[in-house]
Parts: sequence; structure tokens; C-alpha cells
Amino acid sequence: MHGFSYKSGSLHCEEVDLNSLATTYGTPLYVYSGGTITDHFRRLDEALSGVPHEIAYAVKANSNLSVLRLLAAQGAGFDIVSGGELFRVIKAGGDPGHCTFAGVGKTRAEIIYALNEGIYSFNVESEDELRYLNQVAGELGLIAPAAVRVNPNVDAKTHKYISTGKSENKFGVDFESIADLYERASNDLPHIRLRGLQMHIGSQLTSIAPFIEAVEKVTPLVRLLKQRHGIEFWSIGGGIGIVYHNSLESGAAGWWQQREGTDAPLTIERYGQELVPRLKDLGLKILLEPGRYIVGNAGVLLTRCLYEKKGLAKTFKIVDAGMNDLIRPALYEGHHEIVPLTEPASDERVMVDVVGPICESGDFFCQDRELPDFQPGECVALMSAGAYGFAMASNYNSRPLPAEVLVEGATARVIRHRQDLDALIEGES
Ligand code: LLP
Repeated sequence: MHGFSYKSGSLHCEEVDLNSLATTYGTPLYVYSGGTITDHFRRLDEALSGVPHEIAYAVKANSNLSVLRLLAAQGAGFDIVSGGELFRVIKAGGDPGHCTFAGVGKTRAEIIYALNEGIYSFNVESEDELRYLNQVAGELGLIAPAAVRVNPNVDAKTHKYISTGKSENKFGVDFESIADLYERASNDLPHIRLRGLQMHIGSQLTSIAPFIEAVEKVTPLVRLLKQRHGIEFWSIGGGIGIVYHNSLESGAAGWWQQREGTDAPLTIERYGQELVPRLKDLGLKILLEPGRYIVGNAGVLLTRCLYEKKGLAKTFKIVDAGMNDLIRPALYEGHHEIVPLTEPASDERVMVDVVGPICESGDFFCQDRELPDFQPGECVALMSAGAYGFAMASNYNSRPLPAEVLVEGATARVIRHRQDLDALIEGES
């Protein structure tokens, strides 16, 4: 489910008309479906019900306080990658005791903050970091709960910028070195409590095979670490992919094509069916760190068409959102469906590039795509923008950050105001 569909000729999020939101709050505007977020959380929880588990939502995907609060109310834990994310979780009422702290470059200040807040586990990415964590914990007279991230050297078959589980990636410790590292740590590092093992092979995985390969490869190591060091959890990371192509049901409007071979949908039920039997006899708590799966298809970015430019080679639809608002197409060649908020009256399509106002040729949302012939003044939705959308937005070209709205049923609430020009220069002199 994703909570977006045409009703009476106008695209809605749950019961709320998106054209009216665009008029009331302006564009560019992020809109999230609260019902979709909780539905995805519950479906994943249900799919894993055969094994003791905890879902630690990856805050980096969408860190708005209201989104975090919604997930905390569902019982989510949180996977964080910075002191800033921990601060957000605490402000949203999340429990640090259900937070894991990932990332290759934790600073001293971040380590101290997280130790004092009593997080569940530091997911450590190198021996150097583990020794430093031991030192800092010792200075504070504390014991740091830790898991090391194993790099299983498995090909996640995703975009190279979001693949993390191969030996050439900067993440984790080589599979072959982990057992010795745990041995050394338990002998030499008195301020570390080895609590678990972590892995994460990449993001936007659309096939189950790499997950199975990684779980099967790492299982003997996990058993060994449990036996020798009494670890209590195994985090199998995030990475569950979503459908970006054809992301409104084709039946709902029927005018865009499923592109073959691009997004073989990996259902959450399949994920559970394949992984639970492989995990349930380990006697460990299984942690999951999904980000995109929870929020990706729960959000859209609304943008208004400003101008049309017919050049010799191409037709450009120039919209008021730019790569600073949604960078995925520029950075990962990410595909987002582009859907007019007013349902097109005919099946007529035109070949266009949809581009933003930023002074870069990489500032496009699609190139050479057949779309309904929407006109200046009309709004479109960039679909599947709930994950790594606003979270990666910037002020490039001195553009204020867009507003965010959360829809629950027939209610729409601004959960972040549009940045104004004074806020844009705050802190500068
Ligand atoms: N755990 C760890 C250690 C991670 O590094 C990540 C994502 C996740 C969990 C959550 O992965 P997810 O379930 O969302 O796939 N900005 C990129 C994605 C970067 C992912 C970074 N790490 C994009 O827009 O595609």
C-alpha cells in the first residue's frame, strides 16, 4: 500500500487532495502518508513474527520528528549514524536504549553523548574505532555495548554508490578477521561489552538472493560468536528495495509502462518467508534496520511547472523543485514517477525532460520520458520521495528548504515549515 490514488480526477494522499495542499502550503512540498508508514512497519513486524526481533528504523532515510514519533509509537527502535540523529530520536520521544549507532567515523563528542544516553549498541566499523570506544568508555567509567559490522563480501547488485557489502567498500571488517577481533577485544578491552554482530550489504536490493547469500555465509560465524562471547543479537541491516517504476498501481491511471527488468518487486512477505526459517533457531534477537522500505513509497514531492521551453533538440518542463530538494536522480540516476495532480483527460503523451531551476545540467528529474502534457501553472508529484528525499535536501543556490506535511486520514498537518530567507542566513555574519 502507498496511500496515493486519484479520486474525482485529483491525486489524493489518503483522504486529502494534493492540489489543495499545493495551493495552501506552496511548492515544492513534501507530503507523507502516515497510514502508509505505520502499515509498512506493521507488515515487516508481522513478516518477522516467527523470530525474536526488533525493527530499528534507519533514521537517515527520513528524520522528521513527527515521522520518528509515529514510529516510536509503533514500538520501533532506531538506527542512527550521528549525534544529530540521536538528538532527534530523543526529542521525538524515542528510547536511546533501543538505538544502535552505525557509521565509520564516530567522533569523540558523539561517542560520549551516546554513552551517556545509554544506547543499546555501538555498531563498530574498525578495530581502531573499537579501541577508541574502549578508551573513551574507560575515561567515563562506563562499559560500552558494541557489535562489530562484518563485511561479508557479498554483491548486493545495486547502484555502486549504495552497495556496502563488498571488500572494496569502506564499511565493516572483513569476514575473515572478525573471529580474531572478538577474541582480542574480549582479552584486551575491558570497557567493551560485545553484545552482537551487525551487517548491512547495501540499499535498494530488489532481489532476495543477496540477503540469503549473506545470511547463509555469516550464520556459522554468528554461532561461533554466540558460543565464545555470548552475543545476544544479530543485526541483518536494512536494504529492502521498493518499487520506483509504476509506483501508482497501473490500474489506477494506466498510462505509464512497467519497464521490464528494472524493479522486480521484492515483497516483504517473501523476505520474511525466506529469512525467518534461516534465523529462527539461532537463539538470538534479530535486528533489522530498514529505512527506505518504511518511508520510501509513503512520500511524494509536489512541484509546480513554471515554464515550458521547446528547444531544437528537446522540450523542457521547468518546475520549481530542484536537485537541492531531491537529489536522487542526479546522484544515483534514481527514477521517480512524475504524475500530474490533476488526472490527465487523454492518453496523449509528449517526450520531455523535467528539470529544476538550479544552475547545473545534472538538475533534472527525468530525461526523454513520455509524460502527459502538463502545462505551466499545473502541479505534478514526484513519487516515492519519502526516503532520502528531504533528508538529503540542501540550501544549494540559496534555496530555502521545502515544507513537509503529514497526512493521517482526512487530516493534514505541517510538520516542518518552509524555511524563510532569514533562516537561510542564520548563524552567518
Ligand atoms: N543500515 C545501515 C548501516 C545503512 O548504512 C543503511 C543505509 C541502512 C541501514 C538503511 O538502508 P535502507 O533500508 O534504507 O536501504 N541515499 C541513498 C541510500 C543510502 C543508504 C545508506 N545506508 C538513496 O537515496 O538511494
